[in-house]
Amino acid sequence: MLDWEAAIANNATQPILVLRYEDIKETSERAMPLVKYRDAGGDTLLVLEVDGYLYPKTPEEVVRGIKDVTIRDDDVMICAYPKSGTHWVWEITRCILSGTTDLVVAEKDELHLECIPNSTLETFASPRILNCHIWYRQLPGQFTQKNCKIIFVSRNPKDVAVSFFHHHKKLTQYYEYTGKWENYLPLFLNGQVDSGSWFEYMLDWEAAIANNATQPILVLRYEDIEENPQREVSKIARFLDKDCTAEFLSQVCDKCDFRNMKRTKGHIITSLDDKNDSVMYRKGQVGDWKNYFTVAQNEVFDRVFAEKMKQSSMKFKYEL
Ligand code: A3P
Repeated sequence: MLDWEAAIANNATQPILVLRYEDIKETSERAMPLVKYRDAGGDTLLVLEVDGYLYPKTPEEVVRGIKDVTIRDDDVMICAYPKSGTHWVWEITRCILSGTTDLVVAEKDELHLECIPNSTLETFASPRILNCHIWYRQLPGQFTQKNCKIIFVSRNPKDVAVSFFHHHKKLTQYYEYTGKWENYLPLFLNGQVDSGSWFEYMLDWEAAIANNATQPILVLRYEDIEENPQREVSKIARFLDKDCTAEFLSQVCDKCDFRNMKRTKGHIITSLDDKNDSVMYRKGQVGDWKNYFTVAQNEVFDRVFAEKMKQSSMKFKYEL
């Protein structure tokens, strides 16, 4: 630095522009429509708000470009509210479509619609396994026109809330959140998190699935895959028109088993927190919510659920 400082100071003719990382970051973030939701303890959670929808801090133009993403006939899309098992189902789908458990051509996060621009998505070979946490009505226009296959994954909202709490606390570079569980839970219930209200998200998808006449949509539950991976993995293979042997499907289950995925994928940079712990492969269990919810919090949650989901016929499993 001293060498450069002297060079800059003593230089009379060379054109040198001096920039600071912090200034560029501050200027670019000032231009972004970021919102800070304050919890009851005074801690804030930072999200991007575009046209009334909430996202993690990601380039606004990528989010605005989702509608116009170029879609191929054989694209498959994994859709899920965050923390519902997107990485897991993406990996299973990758193995089935490629017919092997070994060949890694891309990682899930490289094909995530909210974070990756169309120009980069276009560089991936077919068949692409795209994925997103957006509402049905936000999907790229061509995706619904072309009737591409969708795999929709749901998970019981209590485990989603706990998993999302850790996600928000650990990924400080995105959310800057340092709050406590008891103050976080109302933020989740109010939908003051990326992807918005879990309840509204699920109702949007439920209506889309019910009213849809032509789009092939496979609906899976996280808990069902935990309970009987072989059965659920064969459902995915059938849906994708892949004729797989029972032996191969069993290899897929082993390959995508939580411990195996944590070991092989847990180091991926986008899934690391600032202590180098994996955020995307945390516990991988059904019912971890019981370690967090007090009796009173559980009652509040059940009341909100009963009110908001009274029109819904979706069923969720809270334990195995
Ligand atoms: P927990 O935080 O409860 O452990 P998403 O991929 O949609 O972000 O979901 C992440 C959740 O799925 C995390 O839940 C993560 O541990 C769990 N998960 C990831 N891979 C899994 C696997 N192979 N088996 C079971 N759960 C998995």
